[in-house]
Amino acid sequence: MDFTLTEEQQMIQQAARDFTQNELLPGVIERDEHQSFPAEQVKKMGELGFLGMMVDPKYGGSGLDTLSYALVMEELSKVDASCSVVVSVNNSLVCWGLETFGTEAQKEKYLTRLATGEIIGAFCLSEPEAGSDATSQKTTALDHGDHYVLNGTKNWITNGGTAEVYLVIAQTDIEKGHKGINALIVEKGMDGFEIGPKENKLGIRGSDTHSLIFNDVKVPKENRIGEDGFGFKFAMKTLAGGRIGIAAQALGIAAGAYELALKYSKERKAFGTEIVNHQAIAFKLADMHTKIVAARMLVYKAAMDKDKHENYDLSGAMAKLYASEVAMETAVEAVQIHGGNGFVKDYHVERLMRDAKITQIYEGTSEIQKIVISRSISR
Ligand code: CAA
Repeated sequence: MDFTLTEEQQMIQQAARDFTQNELLPGVIERDEHQSFPAEQVKKMGELGFLGMMVDPKYGGSGLDTLSYALVMEELSKVDASCSVVVSVNNSLVCWGLETFGTEAQKEKYLTRLATGEIIGAFCLSEPEAGSDATSQKTTALDHGDHYVLNGTKNWITNGGTAEVYLVIAQTDIEKGHKGINALIVEKGMDGFEIGPKENKLGIRGSDTHSLIFNDVKVPKENRIGEDGFGFKFAMKTLAGGRIGIAAQALGIAAGAYELALKYSKERKAFGTEIVNHQAIAFKLADMHTKIVAARMLVYKAAMDKDKHENYDLSGAMAKLYASEVAMETAVEAVQIHGGNGFVKDYHVERLMRDAKITQIYEGTSEIQKIVISRSISR
């Protein structure tokens, strides 16, 4: 495969790199410490076109390919995964889902505002008892003629408090199993829709994660995405693309941790020389670099499969599985290379280590990726 980036892709990568250094790096430690949502930074990312990267320009998007999106995700995540998860959810799960499966009226009403970053969206699948086992939805959307009545609780919802538009997956007909599930567009402020408390998280602490509570929320039928019963497939197809974004996020966290560790190892002296000259450190860096390059190829391959309209369930799951493992391993080693300095906030690697962990959990745990991969290869 040819992984050479086009001139346009290189320019987008550079723009994201500059933005990251100028706008994300200052204040990233404080945002993490105080769990502050990066509202100003999200607004600027909207102005740069990062919130609707793959959306058709006629709906306010940037009209770019998936690989460009992955490049931006990687760069943002080198410094601030709390910002990049907002980009990931808005692009892959909300905008892509609406643009691909929404009606023209839904696109006009919601997509343009989401793609320009005027508002952001959330994707609501996980429940207290249905995170990995997504068919076991307990939230119900009962059919009442011209509307659905939504009841239940969603958990761990990224952008839970800041979103204006929520794509909610719920069970309409339990008898039909996954074929009785629907995806509904719910707006903030609808009667009976409450936002639960913010989670106090290990990592990506700047992003706002909430539970959501629905008490007899009336959702008009025109807010259903796709045919009756399409909700589970909608979620699976959307998540398959979302995994490419999270794989790119994991890659960015790994690359960010590695770059910091390499720089530190060339500056820090011990036993009479820079520590990079000690084989114990040099071999760690060699392993880190090799794994990051391998993860990058998997991420690019998955993005390119999607751009070529080929099936990307397998390549996306492999990219997410491997890149998230590399993120975790690399971040732990980056802390080790920094020694005592790695354990304090000023050196950034402890945050990257905490942020890395979520990439092995959300949008399908590593175990879920192995289910998807093993099913694909044994078909
Ligand atoms: N594309 C299209 N259809 C798909 C599909 C895909 N990628 N994957 C499954 N389907 C279809 C199947 O073909 C099947 O349809 P038919 O019955 O018509 O053949 C149907 O969906 C059911 O599929 P399975 O029998 O494979 O379903 P399952 O119950 O065995 O579960 C699973 C499959 C892969 C484990 C799935 O439940 C899953 O992906 N779970 C993880 C969910 C997840 O990622 N949660 C994260 C929450 S979102 C999040 O984290 C966002 C955030 O905040 C950042």
